[in-house]
Amino acid sequence: MELKITCIPGDGIGPEIVAQAKKVVDKAGEVYGFTPIYTDILMGGASIDVHGVPLTDEAIATAKSADAVLMGSIGGDTTKSPWYKLPPNLRPEAGLLKIRKALNLFANLRPALLYKELAGACPLKEEISSKGFDIMIMRELTGGLYFGDRKTVEENGVRKAIDTLTYDENEIRRIAIKGFDIARKRKQKVTSVDKANVLDSSRLWRSVVEEVAKDYPDVILEHMLVDNCAMQLVKDPAQFDVILTENMFGDILSDEASMVTGSIGMLASASLNDTKFGLYEPSHGSAPDIAGLDVANPIATILSAAMMLRYSFDLDDAADAIEAAVQQVLQEGYRTGDIYSENCKKVGCKEMGELIASRVK
Ligand code: IPM
Ligand code: MG
Repeated sequence: MELKITCIPGDGIGPEIVAQAKKVVDKAGEVYGFTPIYTDILMGGASIDVHGVPLTDEAIATAKSADAVLMGSIGGDTTKSPWYKLPPNLRPEAGLLKIRKALNLFANLRPALLYKELAGACPLKEEISSKGFDIMIMRELTGGLYFGDRKTVEENGVRKAIDTLTYDENEIRRIAIKGFDIARKRKQKVTSVDKANVLDSSRLWRSVVEEVAKDYPDVILEHMLVDNCAMQLVKDPAQFDVILTENMFGDILSDEASMVTGSIGMLASASLNDTKFGLYEPSHGSAPDIAGLDVANPIATILSAAMMLRYSFDLDDAADAIEAAVQQVLQEGYRTGDIYSENCKKVGCKEMGELIASRVK
């Protein structure tokens, strides 16, 4: 079986971490009998440097013709890079928003889990972290404030900026259905997060989520206001299973949840549409300060590749094997700098990729 995969190495540490993920997927292909065919496209700063825009239509067409997209990271240092002198629609991040919209990737899955081996890196008190946690943040990714009309105007000498937050019931329903489907395969609980005490869009969100919940009597639904959710994530993260929320809230809460794990270099993500197609990327950014030094942690990208095999290709055995290989390498004490603790063996990006690939069985 051939797997058509478009790769976006991107900027910063992107190219080095994607190279390691490919290595691991290749090894899984040898063991489980599939052949990945990769086609690279440029996005973000890398595309700006060559084409003057963060994503070309040809690149989108290439991505669309594949079965899945594996991405590293995009963007640079916003205070220093010349990319950030460009108008907002030509900056690296605009490429990411464009591909999400063009490929209709409305469901963003961001797992935040505490690895037993890395529990020491969790910044929470031991009485909280010892309970462990395994949260799936389901973020709506193609609506809300990110894609509403926006403009900056000047009225009577006063500058004024307007961003609009819009959701229709269909956009809410389709992400809610994905959220409940995923909760069904986990601990059967959905926490829907909104700001229904203030926002109309949140009140609609809440009522549509309640309608969808009727088809899932086996899944517990609770509603939580977003400010409270931000507190609960540090107070008692073990209470959560699936957190279902809109675009902007999900952006913020997923960063918080990943920080709480203490190991953002370990967290994968998937952005899915209605079909099996998906874009898979680590939850962390492009870390331009350590780019090219062979010290980045490739595990989040490797685990994203495992999600790709699971969700886009139904290769659950291969995905399990990659996840087990990551676990094994951690148990053997290998660590990149970001997750290093005393008495462990420090390795670089490349060596970590090779170690994991060699343990895929
Ligand atoms: C993310 C990022 C993006 C977002 C940025 C880079 C536009 O923060 O994927 O969470 O806000 O969605
Ligand atoms: Mg973000």
